[in-house]
Amino acid sequence: MSDDSTLGDLASATVVVTAGRPPATPNQPLNVPVVLTSTYTASDFAPQPGDLGYGRWGNPTWTALEDTVGALEGGPALAFGSGMAAISAVFALVPLGGTVVIPDTPYSGTSQLARELEAAGRIRVRPVPQADTEAVLAALDGADLIVLESPSNPMMDVADLPTILAAARQGGVLSAVDNTFATPLLQQPLSLGAHLVVHAATKYLSGHSDVLLGIVVTEPDPENDLYGRLLGHRTINGAIPGPMEAWLALRGMRTLAVRIERASANAAELARRLGDHPAVSQVRYPGLSSHPGHQRALAQMRGFGAMLSFELVGQSAEQAERVCANVRLWTHTTSLGGVESTLERRRRHGGESVLVPESLIRLSVGIEDVDDLWNDLQQALEAAVL
Ligand SMILES: Cc1ncc(COP(=O)(O)O)c(C=O)c1O
Repeated sequence: MSDDSTLGDLASATVVVTAGRPPATPNQPLNVPVVLTSTYTASDFAPQPGDLGYGRWGNPTWTALEDTVGALEGGPALAFGSGMAAISAVFALVPLGGTVVIPDTPYSGTSQLARELEAAGRIRVRPVPQADTEAVLAALDGADLIVLESPSNPMMDVADLPTILAAARQGGVLSAVDNTFATPLLQQPLSLGAHLVVHAATKYLSGHSDVLLGIVVTEPDPENDLYGRLLGHRTINGAIPGPMEAWLALRGMRTLAVRIERASANAAELARRLGDHPAVSQVRYPGLSSHPGHQRALAQMRGFGAMLSFELVGQSAEQAERVCANVRLWTHTTSLGGVESTLERRRRHGGESVLVPESLIRLSVGIEDVDDLWNDLQQALEAAVL
């Protein structure tokens, strides 16, 4: 982690370890435990602000996680039952018939949700290539919400966040950035001008492939009360996390800085080696100077993360499937962001955009030894393609 990754006077690598802890009290737990309860003993009179009351209204284990993510992103956070529950809550802020600008190749669940809301007459959707800043700025006209995802899943597109978010703010367009791939350690969208940040905390924040969880962080804004509106949505729609999941996510977050540092270093090395491999036609990793978003990423991120994609010479879906089938150390699986390295041909999912190349394989690089990872990937490529 670079020295400038500070929040107030503490570096983010410290905040991930220390935030959300109760005051140090003799003989009390160091961290907030899992609070498993559906209800709380009532206060004497009518419920007071801050009362927990009922398990759908609040939970101390959620609060510890929310305080930690909030401290890292720079605004109050709300935990949801999954990344999609968090994204649904953001879409629910749009007035009936409102227009939402989305990337043309975001996470497939996001585009599927947008299309379903459009088919139901709830919103209108404007998909844009988010790396094309002029196209995005033109699409903002008359929009109610823009959702960006940078770097994006699985195309690794990098949007010009400061330019787009400033224009959205000036035009009165609400903005949300899906920060799942970068994590708040590498990118803080609120400081770049976003109103909202979304996470599939299922991925890097939790980090061990054992939890589904979502987060929305809002800018601190008493006027629009985005936090209050999202809290109201979560409570009445029941889009709440389980206390055990929140506890596991916070436990995972305690090692986020070391995981990201190690996994990013592995990813950078694998991107370089894949770029030199004769079976590979293109590597998409913002850390490569050949990536079209490299300069942008340098300007708005503190590192390039541990996600990357590559395509095969010949663009064969069958060969890409064989690469995924031939790995032994890597795991062929969907999802991402765990300590273990995983890979997937994204077009195997019917819901994936046709703009994603058939042979594109997405890598979620873990924290194993980089030479072991390379040797396995290399043998899988050679057995399938060469
Ligand atoms: C970038 C991104 N956003 C959101 C989601 C949805 O998260 P969840 O699966 O926790 O609902 C995913 C899931 O893969 C994702 O990759």
